[in-house]
Amino acid sequence: MKYRIYVVDDDRHYARMLSYRLDKNANYEVKVFHGGEEVLKNLDEKPDLMLLDIMMPGVDGVEVLRQMTTRMPEVPVIMVSAQGVIDTAVEAMKIGAYDYITKGQDDLVKLDAIVRNVLEKVSLEREVESLRSEVSEKYQVKGMIGESPAMQQVYRMIQKATRGDLTVAIQGESGTGKELVAKAIHYSSGRKRGPFIVVNCAAIPRDLMESEFFGHEKGSFTGAHARKIGKFEQADGGTIFLDEIGELDHDLQAKLLRALQEGELTRVGGSETIEFSARVISATNKDVVQMIRDGRFREDLYYRLFQFPVPLPPLRERGQDVLLLSNYFFREYSQAHPEFKGMKISSAARRAIEAHPWPGNVRELKSAIERAILLSDTPEIGVADLMIANINPISPWAERMTLAQAAETSFKSPTPRVAQPHSPSVSTPSSEDDLRNPVSPESPVSLEDGEGGIVSLEELKQRAVERAYRLCERNVDRAAVELGIGRATMYRLLKKFDIME
Ligand SMILES: Nc1ncnc2c1ncn2[C@@H]1O[C@H](COP(=O)(O)OP(=O)(O)OP(=O)(O)O)[C@@H](O)[C@H]1O
Ligand SMILES: [Mg+2]
Repeated sequence: MKYRIYVVDDDRHYARMLSYRLDKNANYEVKVFHGGEEVLKNLDEKPDLMLLDIMMPGVDGVEVLRQMTTRMPEVPVIMVSAQGVIDTAVEAMKIGAYDYITKGQDDLVKLDAIVRNVLEKVSLEREVESLRSEVSEKYQVKGMIGESPAMQQVYRMIQKATRGDLTVAIQGESGTGKELVAKAIHYSSGRKRGPFIVVNCAAIPRDLMESEFFGHEKGSFTGAHARKIGKFEQADGGTIFLDEIGELDHDLQAKLLRALQEGELTRVGGSETIEFSARVISATNKDVVQMIRDGRFREDLYYRLFQFPVPLPPLRERGQDVLLLSNYFFREYSQAHPEFKGMKISSAARRAIEAHPWPGNVRELKSAIERAILLSDTPEIGVADLMIANINPISPWAERMTLAQAAETSFKSPTPRVAQPHSPSVSTPSSEDDLRNPVSPESPVSLEDGEGGIVSLEELKQRAVERAYRLCERNVDRAAVELGIGRATMYRLLKKFDIME
């Protein structure tokens, strides 16, 4: 790629001489302008370097420089001054000129070196810039560490979620970073200047929850001494993060649904309806689909809240991220506590970190690292300091094999499950003529190959995908959620098994 150099000088003779000199270099593309106005009018393309005469009639060099520092601050400008105006040249350096040369013969000789220098710097900066953007695109979303394919997918989802105002539901085990993801979405969205309000649905007593959400009027119940503005109103213009949404009781589920449908709320004990504009992001570590089947979560609320589901993978599915995160927490903690400077994680401890399943995910890893730093008697953290030898049992939710579960819920069982009133259309049909599932699959996913043999895992996978796809009425997103896999994976599998019509 050629470097574009602009020469700006009202002295045609001098401008031609400069451009002639520079043009000899095959890497330079020189354009000459004969005055300040002319160059300012023609700045559609960005030059890599500008050589700018100071004394020009009309808009002079200093004025052009001023404009350049605001319009194109990254373009280096070298001032060209006649012998008498060195002071102005020095002044120009203060405004932001990169360097200056005088119109004497000596400086003309230096010109080549100066230009080469500047351009080298430009190209280096460009390289760093492109690297930086690559890095930020690849590895980072607002303070999130991780570069595994699973996390790349999460970053892409976060990015997409910022484009609109769909409700987002973040699903993942405890400690996977759900709140971090919610914040990342809020702070990269158009609402970033608005508030980010957190409500933990598990931490507030049931009877106070409604008032927490929607506020109350004075005297509406014993203890309501004054009017209270609820979190939904507080979050106006911003985002409300409903954490542990699976803990919401049935009554409040209905009220939340109504508020989301109408975009308005009523304070407890009030009669006025109040419009709110908060965007809703929720999170849960529960298997909400199973909760619907069990009649513990409203299906209609599920569709309202899960317009944009973001599954967050457990740490044990993030490959080398576990080491990246360890290093990150290690560095963070030892920087904040200088007494631990110079410590290291031993290679045995590293291997233990890699091997551990981290049922408490990132949160568990973070505290293990911090604890290990405190516990270690030597400058090198050992395996024992991590205190992870007793491998904790993985939470039941974690243990669930998603595909296997999809298959299992569809096994022929001696006592067919009866669909709950709120169960989603993906639940096992109680009979072949289940009206909500007009396209009942011919056979539920079975572990048998029909001849008393064992069915292959691949075959099982195909059956599970096929069944989920049909039962979700060919809604790929829902089927993917049901199977606990990403949308892209779902598409890949549909294609692979030739299922999609
Ligand atoms: N990718 C990440 N990079 C850096 N820090 C992370 C990452 N994921 C999580 N953390 C940190 O781990 C801790 C737990 O994260 P967070 O509170 O977001 O998890 P959670 O999924 O909401 O957990 P819970 O279900 O228990 O509420 C926090 O200190 C958070 O900053
Ligand atoms: Mg949380």
